Amino acid sequence: MKKVSQEIQFELYDSSQELSQLDRELLEAAVASTDSAYAPYSKFHVGAAVLLETGEVVQGSNQENAAYPSGLCAERVALFAAASQHPENKICAIAITACFHDTDELLAVSPCGDCRQVLAEYEHRYQSGIRMILTAGNGKVMVVPDARTLLPLMFNADNLKRD
Ligand code: THU
Repeated sequence: MKKVSQEIQFELYDSSQELSQLDRELLEAAVASTDSAYAPYSKFHVGAAVLLETGEVVQGSNQENAAYPSGLCAERVALFAAASQHPENKICAIAITACFHDTDELLAVSPCGDCRQVLAEYEHRYQSGIRMILTAGNGKVMVVPDARTLLPLMFNADNLKRD
Protein backbone atom coordinates (compact mmCIF):
# COMPACT_ATOMS: atom_id res chain seq x y z
CA MET A 1 0.00 0.00 0.00
CA LYS A 2 1.14 3.52 -0.65
CA LYS A 3 -0.52 6.79 0.11
CA VAL A 4 -1.24 8.99 -2.89
CA SER A 5 -2.14 12.64 -2.76
CA GLN A 6 -3.26 15.06 -5.40
CA GLU A 7 -3.08 18.81 -5.20
CA ILE A 8 -5.09 21.31 -7.17
CA GLN A 9 -3.88 24.55 -8.68
CA PHE A 10 -5.89 27.63 -9.45
CA GLU A 11 -5.37 31.37 -9.73
CA LEU A 12 -6.65 33.71 -7.03
CA TYR A 13 -7.21 37.37 -7.93
CA ASP A 14 -7.78 40.09 -5.33
CA SER A 15 -10.25 41.82 -7.61
CA SER A 16 -12.09 41.22 -10.88
CA GLN A 17 -10.18 44.24 -12.22
CA GLU A 18 -7.11 41.99 -12.42
CA LEU A 19 -8.80 39.49 -14.74
CA SER A 20 -8.26 39.45 -18.50
CA GLN A 21 -10.90 41.45 -20.37
CA LEU A 22 -12.46 38.22 -21.67
CA ASP A 23 -12.86 36.73 -18.19
CA ARG A 24 -14.02 40.03 -16.68
CA GLU A 25 -16.74 40.40 -19.32
CA LEU A 26 -17.85 36.81 -18.81
CA LEU A 27 -18.07 37.40 -15.08
CA GLU A 28 -20.11 40.56 -15.71
CA ALA A 29 -22.52 38.46 -17.79
CA ALA A 30 -22.81 36.01 -14.88
CA VAL A 31 -23.51 38.88 -12.48
CA ALA A 32 -26.25 40.15 -14.81
CA SER A 33 -27.78 36.66 -14.89
CA THR A 34 -28.41 36.69 -11.14
CA ASP A 35 -31.30 39.08 -11.90
CA SER A 36 -33.18 36.32 -13.72
CA ALA A 37 -32.83 33.74 -10.95
CA TYR A 38 -36.07 32.22 -9.75
CA ALA A 39 -35.15 31.45 -6.17
CA PRO A 40 -38.16 32.14 -3.93
CA TYR A 41 -37.15 29.34 -1.53
CA SER A 42 -33.44 29.89 -0.94
CA LYS A 43 -33.28 33.58 -1.96
CA PHE A 44 -29.80 32.66 -3.20
CA HIS A 45 -29.45 34.01 -6.71
CA VAL A 46 -26.84 32.27 -8.83
CA GLY A 47 -25.75 33.53 -12.24
CA ALA A 48 -23.71 31.65 -14.82
CA ALA A 49 -22.34 32.64 -18.22
CA VAL A 50 -20.92 30.12 -20.67
CA LEU A 51 -18.41 31.19 -23.34
CA LEU A 52 -18.43 29.27 -26.63
CA GLU A 53 -15.50 29.04 -29.04
CA THR A 54 -17.40 31.38 -31.38
CA GLY A 55 -17.32 34.08 -28.70
CA GLU A 56 -21.04 33.71 -28.07
CA VAL A 57 -22.12 33.88 -24.42
CA VAL A 58 -25.05 31.83 -23.07
CA GLN A 59 -26.41 32.88 -19.69
CA GLY A 60 -28.30 30.93 -17.05
CA SER A 61 -29.60 31.34 -13.52
CA ASN A 62 -30.92 28.95 -10.90
CA GLN A 63 -34.53 27.96 -11.31
CA GLU A 64 -36.18 26.59 -8.20
CA ASN A 65 -39.41 24.67 -7.77
CA ALA A 66 -41.81 24.00 -4.92
CA ALA A 67 -40.93 20.34 -5.49
CA TYR A 68 -37.37 21.16 -4.49
CA PRO A 69 -35.38 18.52 -6.46
CA SER A 70 -37.09 19.63 -9.66
CA GLY A 71 -35.17 22.91 -9.65
CA LEU A 72 -31.86 23.32 -11.44
CA CYS A 73 -28.59 25.12 -10.73
CA ALA A 74 -27.56 28.15 -12.79
CA GLU A 75 -24.56 26.28 -14.21
CA ARG A 76 -26.62 23.46 -15.70
CA VAL A 77 -29.30 25.85 -16.98
CA ALA A 78 -26.56 27.71 -18.89
CA LEU A 79 -24.60 24.61 -19.97
CA PHE A 80 -27.62 22.68 -21.23
CA ALA A 81 -28.93 25.75 -23.06
CA ALA A 82 -25.52 26.27 -24.69
CA ALA A 83 -25.03 22.63 -25.66
CA SER A 84 -28.57 22.18 -26.96
CA GLN A 85 -28.58 25.40 -29.00
CA HIS A 86 -24.97 25.12 -30.23
CA PRO A 87 -24.00 21.42 -30.09
CA GLU A 88 -21.22 21.90 -32.63
CA ASN A 89 -19.49 24.67 -30.67
CA LYS A 90 -16.93 23.89 -28.01
CA ILE A 91 -17.53 25.32 -24.53
CA CYS A 92 -14.42 27.30 -23.48
CA ALA A 93 -15.26 28.86 -20.12
CA ILE A 94 -17.95 29.43 -17.52
CA ALA A 95 -18.25 32.26 -15.00
CA ILE A 96 -20.32 31.72 -11.88
CA THR A 97 -21.40 34.08 -9.14
CA ALA A 98 -24.11 34.43 -6.52
CA CYS A 99 -25.76 36.98 -4.25
CA PHE A 100 -28.68 37.05 -1.88
CA HIS A 101 -31.79 38.54 -3.45
CA ASP A 102 -31.64 41.73 -1.37
CA THR A 103 -27.92 42.62 -1.69
CA ASP A 104 -25.44 43.19 -4.51
CA GLU A 105 -22.52 41.63 -2.65
CA LEU A 106 -21.02 38.84 -4.74
CA LEU A 107 -20.63 35.70 -2.67
CA ALA A 108 -18.22 32.79 -2.81
CA VAL A 109 -19.62 30.06 -5.02
CA SER A 110 -18.26 26.86 -6.45
CA PRO A 111 -20.23 24.43 -8.61
CA CYS A 112 -21.99 21.57 -6.85
CA GLY A 113 -20.96 17.98 -7.51
CA ASP A 114 -23.66 17.39 -10.14
CA CYS A 115 -22.62 20.50 -12.07
CA ARG A 116 -18.96 19.46 -11.88
CA GLN A 117 -19.88 16.11 -13.38
CA VAL A 118 -21.76 17.83 -16.21
CA LEU A 119 -18.89 20.27 -16.82
CA ALA A 120 -16.41 17.40 -16.88
CA GLU A 121 -18.50 15.47 -19.41
CA TYR A 122 -18.50 18.44 -21.79
CA GLU A 123 -14.72 18.63 -21.38
CA HIS A 124 -14.58 14.98 -22.37
CA ARG A 125 -17.01 15.48 -25.27
CA TYR A 126 -15.12 18.44 -26.72
CA GLN A 127 -11.69 17.18 -25.60
CA SER A 128 -10.98 20.60 -24.19
CA GLY A 129 -10.88 22.14 -20.71
CA ILE A 130 -13.54 24.55 -19.51
CA ARG A 131 -11.98 27.45 -17.59
CA MET A 132 -13.99 28.36 -14.50
CA ILE A 133 -14.17 31.91 -13.19
CA LEU A 134 -15.68 31.86 -9.70
CA THR A 135 -16.33 34.69 -7.27
CA ALA A 136 -14.61 33.88 -4.00
CA GLY A 137 -16.05 36.48 -1.61
CA ASN A 138 -14.57 39.80 -0.47
CA GLY A 139 -14.21 40.84 -4.12
CA LYS A 140 -11.77 38.00 -4.84
CA VAL A 141 -12.02 35.76 -7.89
CA MET A 142 -10.73 32.23 -8.46
CA VAL A 143 -9.85 30.97 -11.92
CA VAL A 144 -9.68 27.18 -12.17
CA PRO A 145 -8.12 25.85 -15.40
CA ASP A 146 -10.69 23.12 -15.96
CA ALA A 147 -13.56 21.27 -14.30
CA ARG A 148 -11.58 18.04 -13.90
CA THR A 149 -9.38 19.88 -11.42
CA LEU A 150 -12.39 20.10 -9.10
CA LEU A 151 -13.45 16.50 -9.66
CA PRO A 152 -10.52 14.18 -8.98
CA LEU A 153 -11.08 10.49 -9.80
CA MET A 154 -14.22 11.42 -11.67
CA PHE A 155 -16.50 8.96 -13.39
CA ASN A 156 -16.25 9.55 -17.12
CA ALA A 157 -17.63 8.12 -20.32
CA ASP A 158 -14.53 5.94 -20.80
CA ASN A 159 -15.58 3.97 -17.72
CA LEU A 160 -18.48 2.61 -19.78
CA LYS A 161 -16.22 1.12 -22.46
CA ARG A 162 -15.86 -2.66 -22.41
CA ASP A 163 -12.48 -2.80 -24.13
N1 THU B 1 -27.16 26.64 -6.76
C1 THU B 1 -26.69 26.92 -8.01
O1 THU B 1 -27.43 27.40 -8.87
N2 THU B 1 -25.40 26.67 -8.27
C2 THU B 1 -24.48 26.24 -7.37
O2 THU B 1 -23.32 26.09 -7.70
C3 THU B 1 -24.90 25.97 -6.00
C4 THU B 1 -26.35 26.07 -5.71
C5 THU B 1 -28.56 26.96 -6.46
C6 THU B 1 -29.46 25.80 -6.20
C7 THU B 1 -30.53 26.47 -5.35
O3 THU B 1 -31.45 27.10 -6.22
C8 THU B 1 -29.79 27.53 -4.59
O4 THU B 1 -28.59 27.76 -5.29
C9 THU B 1 -29.48 27.17 -3.15
O5 THU B 1 -28.82 25.97 -3.07
